[in-house]
Amino acid sequence: MATVSVAKTPSAPPVDFKNEPLLAGEHTLPASWWTSEKIYDLEKRAIFYKSWMFTVHSSRFKKAGDYFSYTVAGINFFIIKNKEGELKAFHNVCRHRAYPVVRKDEGSSVVVGCKYHGWSYNTDGKLTKAPHFDNVEGFEKDENSLYPINIHTTTQGLVFVNFCQKDNEDFVPFDDWFSGLSTELDEFDFGDYDYHMSYELDGDFNWKTLMDGYQECYHCPTAHPGLSTAFKMETYQVVPKSRYCRHYAEIVKEKVEIDNEEKDADEESSWFGFGKKKEAPKKVEKKQNPGGEFNGLWVYLFPSNGVNCYSPAWYSIRVLPITATRTILHYDIYTKKGLDDTAKKEFVDFLQLVELEDFNLCQLTQKNLNEGVYSTGYLHPNKERGVVYYQNIVAEMVKKHFAKEQEAGKSINPAFVGHAAKNPNVQELEAICNKLECGGSSGESKLDW
Ligand code: FES
Ligand SMILES: [Fe+2]
Repeated sequence: MATVSVAKTPSAPPVDFKNEPLLAGEHTLPASWWTSEKIYDLEKRAIFYKSWMFTVHSSRFKKAGDYFSYTVAGINFFIIKNKEGELKAFHNVCRHRAYPVVRKDEGSSVVVGCKYHGWSYNTDGKLTKAPHFDNVEGFEKDENSLYPINIHTTTQGLVFVNFCQKDNEDFVPFDDWFSGLSTELDEFDFGDYDYHMSYELDGDFNWKTLMDGYQECYHCPTAHPGLSTAFKMETYQVVPKSRYCRHYAEIVKEKVEIDNEEKDADEESSWFGFGKKKEAPKKVEKKQNPGGEFNGLWVYLFPSNGVNCYSPAWYSIRVLPITATRTILHYDIYTKKGLDDTAKKEFVDFLQLVELEDFNLCQLTQKNLNEGVYSTGYLHPNKERGVVYYQNIVAEMVKKHFAKEQEAGKSINPAFVGHAAKNPNVQELEAICNKLECGGSSGESKLDW
């Protein structure tokens, strides 16, 4: 059975925030940034290969060898629990001839064996077996470990990865990147929730199309009609922090009148599943807000992730760009320990309804962005503060990286890990390719410019 509700509750919206002067708004970035493949390629190098990105909660790894594999902005990797109980992340690329060493989305094995020629690695990424290589002169197993990826697990168990090489000048340690995030997340008891389910939506839109909607609730009264029954929409605030934004909304605490004779179950359900109608008695009654027990704790994590906590469940959204105009939305839902199946289903139903409403907004918005007649629009300085904030970071990171590449006269990929190619023949041949590609800005290039 569920443990008794703990004292942890998300804090209320800051009261003084709304009294800040209403400064002039800014405009969106140009629509071409939502449609251009060249811009998306540049965003990969400038943003996705330098950012700390949320992936999973550590509670999903039960024993040594448990792993999950992911693809984010074109990079395929996996996270595995080692024998010491630590989580490690590696590129899913065999050091022999680059076949993926892990083929499933999730699994468990303390030996990661490549199914091409049989090389094997342990949970620390060390090469343990390379058939027939024992007597090959100059071959060192120690020099052929899987390529590691930076990983950070917060005290709440949230797991982040960062593809940027540590010796790259643009690498930022987790605690500097998301300064203050961990303290903020302590307002929620992640340990009282278990993984429930995942699902995906495949969208014909740019990753920023979804983030634009995620970063404001200006659209909520018109696009999410069920939402205002549970939270006071006038209190909804998006407060920029350190590359993340805290979303606040005050819950409606007073009891509300429910007329059982006139309301049907759908109307009575909240936007996350509380308040299922009881069959009887058929009379007007007062009951607790169906919206749950506390103010929401919702966090946007630059560039394209979100963690949203409610009393019955919390869920993550990972916005995974595939091309400039195709994006997969991946949702993982974790429900409160002991929550019954009906309540779980109600939460999932409501979440999927709201997310589908957002998904449809994105589909039609992107269609118009693709038309090429619209360029930019005015953003509300308060209601769309979160959009202004994250788009500014996008613009700054892209501009900075672009300037760097212009100066160098070549594309720079911060995720490139092939520096170990010591063989002079390889270096010579790579230099030829570098010269041919020079001046192009294809993010597909894995060259060490
Ligand atoms: S590519 Fe993995 S063993 Fe050859
Ligand atoms: Fe929305």
